[in-house]
Amino acid sequence: MVKAVVLGASGGIGQPLSLLLKASPLIDELSLYDVVNTPGVAADLSHISSPAQITGYLPADDGLEKTLTGADIVVIPAGIPRKPGMTRDDLFKINAGIVRDLVTGIAKFCPKAFILIISNPVNSTVPIAAEILKAHKVFDPSRLFGVTTLDVVRASTFTAQITGEKDSRKIVVPVIGGHSGETIVPLLSLAKPACDIPADKLDGLVHRIQFGGDEVVAAKNGGGSATLSMAFAGFRFAESVIKALKGEKGIVEPTFVYLPGVSGGDEVSKSLGGGIDFFAVPVELGPQGAVKATNPIPTINDNEKKLLEIAIKGLKGNIEKGVEFARAAE
Ligand code: NAI
Repeated sequence: MVKAVVLGASGGIGQPLSLLLKASPLIDELSLYDVVNTPGVAADLSHISSPAQITGYLPADDGLEKTLTGADIVVIPAGIPRKPGMTRDDLFKINAGIVRDLVTGIAKFCPKAFILIISNPVNSTVPIAAEILKAHKVFDPSRLFGVTTLDVVRASTFTAQITGEKDSRKIVVPVIGGHSGETIVPLLSLAKPACDIPADKLDGLVHRIQFGGDEVVAAKNGGGSATLSMAFAGFRFAESVIKALKGEKGIVEPTFVYLPGVSGGDEVSKSLGGGIDFFAVPVELGPQGAVKATNPIPTINDNEKKLLEIAIKGLKGNIEKGVEFARAAE
């Protein structure tokens, strides 16, 4: 039996993500939580003919406790999205507190659940979550994930547009680093199958993968950021975690994890020159969550090494900001 939870379920990401989870035969129970509209979203989804039993709660009457109790996997897209001109870091002030409070609830009511954080800035909200879980003495690094799947999905899609591959699912590009602008490092030299990107298109492709989110923010013209593609990506990652939980082998997804707590993480850390605890790399998933972090860094090319250097600088500051916020709140 698998119970999945969405925190922030009434939002632009939350609703389509909840729809995909409700439609999935892998889920037996789905519980939705938000500060608004969850009874309506849950009632609507409850008419779908799929196995998952669905409930929706608001904060009143211990709603968070009821939502989280018994959860195996909790996906968090709660918080405000970007408007034109905003960076993900600009969201910190509001979203940091939201993630802190929701993860405190997880620490109390379902400390063993897999936690998938979508709320931005992911580079800081994941360290916040880790600190909160540590403070409650329930931190298991193999169960905490920053969801960077949208970067991976974009990398496949945009690369396929250049190579002419019609089915972009067939192109797999590892994306490492963090989840914002220059902290996103697509490793096109390690794409499978190998992709021949013309030299004059390479920089543009890398930039598009790093800043693809801005295209959506601009096109929505004040209406928010990526929601439907994020729901697709968030569902893909959640589905991978659940399949691994159920025993399926060989599942590898890039995700932002706490390196010192994941097998293989120390090697990645060493390749980064040390001093960086959270990083996205392809991670093998198993019934207990993250089984092994793979380390593609020794095989990357010179151009990617330069991108990585820039990413590390930005990422360090983002991580420290999250850790400091959480420690100040203790
Ligand atoms: P939205 O504003 O449409 O939805 C957010 C939802 O969170 C709202 O329904 C709101 O009521 C709810 N919420 C606010 N405070 C809450 C609390 N304390 N507890 C429970 N729910 C609460 O925003 P959208 O577009 O769904 O984006 C959500 C987050 O996801 C943003 O931070 C955005 O930046 C991030 N995002 C992350 C991506 C990634 O790749 N990791 C990609 C796109 C967006």
